[in-house]
Amino acid sequence: MNSKKTNNDKSPSFEGIKGGLIVEVKNLVKKFPVGAGFFTALNDINLEFSEGEFTGLVGPSGSGKTTLLNIIGSLDVPTSGEVVVIGKSIGNLSPKQAAKLRKEELGFIFQNYNLLPVYTVFENVEFPLLLLNLSAGERKKRVMETLEWLGLTDKVNSRPAQLSGGECQRVAIARAMVKRPVLVLADEPTANLDSANSHNILKMMLQLNEELKTSFIFATHDEKVIAYLKRIIRLQDGKVVEDKTIQATPNP
Ligand SMILES: Nc1ncnc2c1ncn2[C@@H]1O[C@H](COP(=O)(O)OP(=O)(O)OP(=O)(O)O)[C@@H](O)[C@H]1O
Ligand SMILES: [Mg+2]
Repeated sequence: MNSKKTNNDKSPSFEGIKGGLIVEVKNLVKKFPVGAGFFTALNDINLEFSEGEFTGLVGPSGSGKTTLLNIIGSLDVPTSGEVVVIGKSIGNLSPKQAAKLRKEELGFIFQNYNLLPVYTVFENVEFPLLLLNLSAGERKKRVMETLEWLGLTDKVNSRPAQLSGGECQRVAIARAMVKRPVLVLADEPTANLDSANSHNILKMMLQLNEELKTSFIFATHDEKVIAYLKRIIRLQDGKVVEDKTIQATPNP
């Protein structure tokens, strides 16, 4: 990865973001209907995330990590409380406004990669750019640059079935990064990877965080991911039980 190459283009726009805050979570409660009653998955969460985060939501299975990540990603709405993402209050957004926020500002990485099987690597990475108003030439430049960062230029015409798990996840990272989002949300991104590939993609994400200032929020219980984090937020039974900043530079 070459930082000189990446600095000229669109860097994340922080217009409308007060004091570098990209996410504010205020008195967030999320209840799911279960039978005749409700299950409280998130119980009065208060958090702030600033630009440049490399933060993990950690905690046991069922503690609410994915639920919180989905609400921050405007894929779900709070039952009560407020979540402000890049200056926009999630609970007040129409489906169309939520889709606009996701396509313009957010990148998503999932455990199962979620690549489109009939498309090539190039087409998978180009896909989010088709939703933006860019020329074919600009799209190609961005896709190829992103594939180069992630060491995938020799796989540009391959399809997902021809790739290893680690390569698929690198394509998924490229797809999340290609539009230079302000914030990337990654739910258990290493769950299907072996140790070497996990370290490989974590190093790449950390480098993207440091060179492009893209913020990352992970949901994870993988110790390999935890070793790279700059901030650890521990959830238990839908509550924040610990929020600690790691002082030393991550160096697992
Ligand atoms: N749509 C839903 N309907 C009912 N309950 C739900 C729903 N989604 C999540 N839950 C419940 O909310 C709780 C939190 O779920 P969540 O998926 O956020 O946990 P998690 O911390 O991501 O766990 P894991 O580590 O297993 O991925 C769980 O008890 C889950 O069963
Ligand atoms: Mg989860």
